[in-house]
Amino acid sequence: MKIAIGADHGGYEMKLAIKTKLENDGYEVLDYGTHSNESVDFPDFSKQVTKAVTEEEAKLGILICGTGIGMSIAANKVKGIRAALVGDVFSAKATREHNNSNVLCLGARVTGLGLAEMIVDTWLNAEFEGDRHQKRLDKINDQ
Ligand code: RB5
Repeated sequence: MKIAIGADHGGYEMKLAIKTKLENDGYEVLDYGTHSNESVDFPDFSKQVTKAVTEEEAKLGILICGTGIGMSIAANKVKGIRAALVGDVFSAKATREHNNSNVLCLGARVTGLGLAEMIVDTWLNAEFEGDRHQKRLDKINDQ
């Protein structure tokens, strides 16, 4: 499975760690940057990762900034993107099962790396349940 990943300077270090973990777990990772701690603008990276997901270059995307909030606001502007800012394992599972989220947002200044790795694992291994939840996603699409 291909996963697109992107971060700003606030999420750079966590991106490196999550990318390494994903590659060790057998995923192909498309890394859209940033590639240093130098200050950058998070929407430049959400734009690239969401494009990779909507154009099906990648099945899922992961975006990391300081809080995860900026990335989630930017990503959810894109039609077809359902970005979830997650800071706990329960929500990681529920947002795949109920919301079919296709982008996971993490806050590197909020969530420790150990928990972030558990969130990523849980999110990737959960499956959309469809049925009544699909009806709700259809209503989001119609808004
Ligand atoms: C960058 O300083 C910070 O604002 C950004 O990483 C993110 O937290 C925005 O929501």
